[in-house]
Amino acid sequence: MMLQLLLALIGTAHTYDNITPVPTSVEAGVGCYRHHAGAQILRLHDADLPSEGYILEVGRKGVTVTSSDAAGTFYGLVTLAQMAGCDYSALEAEKWKVDCCRIEDAPRYEYRGLMTDVSRHFRSKEFLLRHLDAMATVKLNRLHIHLTDAAGWRMEVESYPELTKTGAWRTSASYEDWWITGDRKYVSEGTPGAYGGYYTKEDLREIVAYAAERHITVVPEIEMPGHSEEVCAALPWTCCTGRPYTCPDLCPGKESTFEFLEKVLAEVMDIFPSEYIHIGGDEAPKVHWRTCPDCQKRMEEEGISTVEGLQSYLITRIEKFIEANGRHIIGWDEILEGGLAPNATVMSWRGVDGGRAAIEAGHAAIMTPGEWCYIDARQDAPFKEPLAYGNYMPVSKVYSYDPSEGMDENGKGRVMGVQANLWAEYVMTDEMAEYMYWPRGFALAEVAWSQPSRKDYDDFHRRALGLSGRFRDKGYNVFDLANEYGNRRESLVPQEHMAVGCPVTYNNGSCISPSYPSAGEGSLNDGLCGGWHYKDGRWPGFLTDLDITLDLGTVRDISSVGCTFMQATLHGVRYPSSVEVYYSPDGEEFTLAGVQEREGPEPVSGLDFEVFGTRCEGRARFIRYVARNPGGFLFPDEIIVR
Ligand code: ACM
Ligand code: ZN
Repeated sequence: MMLQLLLALIGTAHTYDNITPVPTSVEAGVGCYRHHAGAQILRLHDADLPSEGYILEVGRKGVTVTSSDAAGTFYGLVTLAQMAGCDYSALEAEKWKVDCCRIEDAPRYEYRGLMTDVSRHFRSKEFLLRHLDAMATVKLNRLHIHLTDAAGWRMEVESYPELTKTGAWRTSASYEDWWITGDRKYVSEGTPGAYGGYYTKEDLREIVAYAAERHITVVPEIEMPGHSEEVCAALPWTCCTGRPYTCPDLCPGKESTFEFLEKVLAEVMDIFPSEYIHIGGDEAPKVHWRTCPDCQKRMEEEGISTVEGLQSYLITRIEKFIEANGRHIIGWDEILEGGLAPNATVMSWRGVDGGRAAIEAGHAAIMTPGEWCYIDARQDAPFKEPLAYGNYMPVSKVYSYDPSEGMDENGKGRVMGVQANLWAEYVMTDEMAEYMYWPRGFALAEVAWSQPSRKDYDDFHRRALGLSGRFRDKGYNVFDLANEYGNRRESLVPQEHMAVGCPVTYNNGSCISPSYPSAGEGSLNDGLCGGWHYKDGRWPGFLTDLDITLDLGTVRDISSVGCTFMQATLHGVRYPSSVEVYYSPDGEEFTLAGVQEREGPEPVSGLDFEVFGTRCEGRARFIRYVARNPGGFLFPDEIIVR
């Protein structure tokens, strides 16, 4: 670490060693080029180069960028700007010096995206413009903007002004106070205390144009049919019951719903030139569809037997409309259920299987699986990070992702690209959004652009420190990678204690929840402690009480028995209500060593760890450990006996 810091401070030997994402190939030259203000950088065309690719040749007498398209030229200049330590737009006007070299470069994937959720917390236009600047610096080229969701509709729609008059404003700034514990009510624009906002069409046109200048496409998302509480509140006739605050889903039984969606999408396509329009499709509960007369009639008429089939009907019909307008749809991987619309591209978020299934069915996929790409999780230890939805997603985890892993050549060809998502339930401010994006966005950019053979985490880490400094100089709020704490200390080295590897009896049967088979039965005493994330393979999840007996093999002096539990209430993971510890020399007569009750009020959010156990002065061969489940998941770590 010290060496890396030192290198970051003094810089590396050559300017071409600092390029992020790392280029396909770099050939060192001799000497350096000194640019004086006003000198030209030569731009050449070579139709044989891949789209967005470039060759950058730096000789002592000048610089040449060769490419087959404007994006390639742009990326050549972005690379040069990173070497020169200046802004790409100021390259010709400023004075700088770079080392001679020849760089050949082209992206691994055509879609290199970041998603921003402007519904849960509205992001200012200024934030988005600065964000586009940041994205361009690392050759990211898609800004997926999640414009609509229950927490607020964010795009002015002339056909339905109610969407922003009421659907964009809520009663509380805090998502938790509004959604988790609050009233989930919307208010009219201008109501004192109303929290929210939306983009005018003029704002959106400005954002789209600013992005295009940086070779970034803004991909708009209009959620359907789920995550639509704000639509049902503003326009109750779009939902099954026709009453506000009753449905999360739009009603696919009513023709008026399609008329609504088509009018909205027509306005969306008028503003956003993106070839792809994201239509959501995720997490629709579809409950009302089962009893809604309109939905039932539609199912009967169309010969649809399941509500998944009804969602597929909606998505396919919307796809036809979008295709008729010369565009294509992207949807979250739930659009696979009930039958995939003919030309849809699937955004794989619930893992990689959705993307793989889409590819097997001949479709394209954009990989954005939660395990590597959900950057709404904390990027470091919970005790030092702001409140976040997800447990733990360090920059190294994002960096480790390979979107094409395990795919054959045909499958690889259908991976359109990769994206990191910043859901914003707990991202209250623009500054916090920047903090969550960078430097994890650098890692995603390298995953998306660079060839796997060129990736090296230690080298990336060094470059990310340098780039973080340059971002900070420009006023971005960047996570402090130099002072990263890392994973839970206990998880880094095996623990030694008396119960490691000893036989365990599950007194109420093997009750590890199949929905979180993260760790198996042996994990309670394998000497390996869990990290910050309950999906790291070391935390078994119990939906019942945990009641086990450990057999130490011989009678031994013991002094304490304890187990750390995780509490992540947002995910249904709770501390035990109480823990009892018993010990016995023979497995017949047990003595109660102690009881520990859970103390304090139950939090709504947060990620905490606490040891539940007791001192236990005695001689024992058998230890019985019982943790009472208050309802939800228990996530016990190692049961440590000393
Ligand atoms: C999602 O995270 N619901 C796509
Ligand atoms: Zn309905």
